[in-house]
Amino acid sequence: MIVEPSPAKTHQMIRDARRRGLTIGCVPTMGALHEGHVSLIRQAKSECDFVVATIFVNPTQFGPNEDFSKYPRTLEADLEMCREAGASLVFTPQTTDMYSPDTETIVRVTKLSTVLEGAHRPGHFDGVTTVVSKLFLITDPDKAYFGQKDFQQQLIIRRMVTDLNFPVQIVTCPIIRESDGLAMSSRNRYLSPDERRTAAQLYQALMLGEKLAKETTLSPPEISARMQAHLESAGGIQVQYVVLADTSSLETLTARTAPQAVGLIAARVGTTRLIDNLVISL
Ligand code: PAF
Repeated sequence: MIVEPSPAKTHQMIRDARRRGLTIGCVPTMGALHEGHVSLIRQAKSECDFVVATIFVNPTQFGPNEDFSKYPRTLEADLEMCREAGASLVFTPQTTDMYSPDTETIVRVTKLSTVLEGAHRPGHFDGVTTVVSKLFLITDPDKAYFGQKDFQQQLIIRRMVTDLNFPVQIVTCPIIRESDGLAMSSRNRYLSPDERRTAAQLYQALMLGEKLAKETTLSPPEISARMQAHLESAGGIQVQYVVLADTSSLETLTARTAPQAVGLIAARVGTTRLIDNLVISL
């Protein structure tokens, strides 16, 4: 496995691999890897000849009061996980390799980026779409792999790829969960043992939503209200949003007008902000 910080050298190696007839899979990450990331690399490996994982804590997707400086950086352990999962190349640029001081260009998906996570984290998705565009141009993949855990992110990236004719197929991979249902996330390591136990309630609330959708005639807003009440009664959880939304537009559903919805939750447990989701049949 090659580890390469230079965008130009990475691009050249991938060009060479392409010339040899290999298909390219890309797994963009910010490091602090866990089994969720490993599952993405494994899936890429099963579908592509040459897998490039990228590790870059992208400053432009963090707000001024967010956790950029304390975001976990665990490069040695990450590289070991990439190696075991079958990556061929790991691209590990520095901020100065990705952004020149006079950079002016951003890529923005105008509508989908402003709701839910976008409303709570202004500018976040501009940072994501800009850096993912750059990663796609550097790694020129046939397929790129993202987790369903960031449901809105993968939808926005799909929109961007369609709108800008990026010749890449986006593959969304299932959420990997801990045994109590907590969705794996690099930020889970911020949780204290008590908070870690409380955090499992996010998945319990999503399961409650699924059960109510199946066993009652409650409307989506009535279901999300029950999910929110469940979270609030657990104690120690500050809910930011709980919605049942359309799986493509992310518009909040007011009635059972679609065959399925995505239940989306964002909440703080202590100082840690967590998100989770579940696709629910209506
Ligand atoms: O999901 C992430 O880890 C990041 O948002 C991504 C896609 C690697 C862009 O920095």
